[in-house]
Amino acid sequence: MNAHTEAENYLLDFHRRIVSSTSIAFGAVPASLNGVVHASSYHALASMLPLDDNALSVVDIGCGDGHLLGLLAAQKHRGLRLIGVDMSDGELDVARAVLPADIALLRERAQDLSIATGSIDVVLSHMALMLMGDLEQVFSEIRRILRPSGLVAFIVGGKGLLEPVRHLYLNELRPILREENISLCLHNERTTSEEGWRTLLSPSFTDCRFADVDLRIDATPTEIWDSFLSTTYDVDLLSSEGQEKLRKRTMAALASHCDSNGKLRYGCGLRLVAARAR
Ligand SMILES: C[S@@+](CC[C@H](N)C(=O)[O-])C[C@H]1O[C@@H](n2cnc3c(N)ncnc32)[C@H](O)[C@@H]1O
Repeated sequence: MNAHTEAENYLLDFHRRIVSSTSIAFGAVPASLNGVVHASSYHALASMLPLDDNALSVVDIGCGDGHLLGLLAAQKHRGLRLIGVDMSDGELDVARAVLPADIALLRERAQDLSIATGSIDVVLSHMALMLMGDLEQVFSEIRRILRPSGLVAFIVGGKGLLEPVRHLYLNELRPILREENISLCLHNERTTSEEGWRTLLSPSFTDCRFADVDLRIDATPTEIWDSFLSTTYDVDLLSSEGQEKLRKRTMAALASHCDSNGKLRYGCGLRLVAARAR
């Protein structure tokens, strides 16, 4: 495996300390895609696969604890060959413990895959690609392993947190990040817009499509804070004093927006991107 960047070293450390955070946060939140409500954003992504028993090789890039691979394996398509790729030993250890033994798990960087050229029909990825550096190289590798007209489909951040939580949370977070001089950037600016994704994909992919994936959940301020604390890299980067300051301010700001059950509507907008290998 090539040397890791500073951002990758941070991600490796995070995913060693806090495993399965993404599947815990997103695994049971209903997600609507093109007017259909799926059990979660993982199910929405899984719906991109053809529902037949023809031979199909599928790779999940940045597979984490293997939640998506587990869903795909449970569909019991004959002919489905599954491979997970992640650089985190912490997440892959969990994946290995829960997934069927015939799912191959590779500990490697998406920028440098060991998978044979042209051997894969579908590449999927859930909430991982926007974190990766050198995305040109990542997509060059994805194109290399895909057969011609093979499918790449991935879910990444989109519109982000919904109001009022977005405004309340970001207003409190930004000054504390500044006070603590935290500048580690964990996302690639081009991954925040359709235009950016098109630019990244266009050298090797065609038929680029985008769709919103909307998640909604009613939660108490404490539940919302707990989810920020366990899934948000920006919050994890703060000192414990910074986290406590943010917790108090966020809880106070959210409390005034709760309904009579002490809950408020919480959710976020993700983006599904799909394209075909040229
Ligand atoms: C937010 S987690 C999502 C995990 C999983 N896809 C899910 O949704 O449950 C991002 C994952 O991407 C992995 N990752 C980030 N950059 C990577 C890279 N360059 N190569 C391989 N894996 C990477 C991390 O180790 C982490 O497991």
